Amino acid sequence: MTILDILSKEHALFHKIIARIDAATSRDEPTARLEIERALLVLLPALARHEAIEMEVFKRPSRAEGPETAKIAATIASQHKEILALHRDILEILRLGGKYDFSRLKSLTAELCQKLRGHFYMEESRLWPRRRAALPAARRRAVGQRAGQNVADLEREISRNWDLVSDYVKSA
Ligand SMILES: [Fe+2]
Ligand SMILES: [Fe+2]
Repeated sequence: MTILDILSKEHALFHKIIARIDAATSRDEPTARLEIERALLVLLPALARHEAIEMEVFKRPSRAEGPETAKIAATIASQHKEILALHRDILEILRLGGKYDFSRLKSLTAELCQKLRGHFYMEESRLWPRRRAALPAARRRAVGQRAGQNVADLEREISRNWDLVSDYVKSA
């Protein structure tokens, strides 16, 4: 599996979590809170690891890669900043230990999910095909192993947390 296959597999797992968050928003408030909080606690750290790997793999494009690639890379970089800012705002709310305005968490989370969908699509369809050839093999190998471990950890986290949520909701 190449590093891009691994990152794309991780996007698919993030989509799975986002779908779970979407489904949770229409539930009653206590269930929605529990599901969204738990989904965020899986999503946010995995997302931070994912974006760190991307920034490590995709250094700034060279001039030879052309102006269009530079433009797309700049858009992706600014999306990373927006996602990071939302990530911080959501973490601040979660640190309040349940004493927060749930509608605020819900709207920030919805904004994050919407941005992530567009961001993943843009990376996969516009950035990665252009930059595939520019990734040095040594860097791909070095980062690939860590990225593979991240995906395995995320898969484990998802199945562990999903079961916990379902058990809680069934017994509540
Ligand atoms: Fe990204
Ligand atoms: Fe990504």
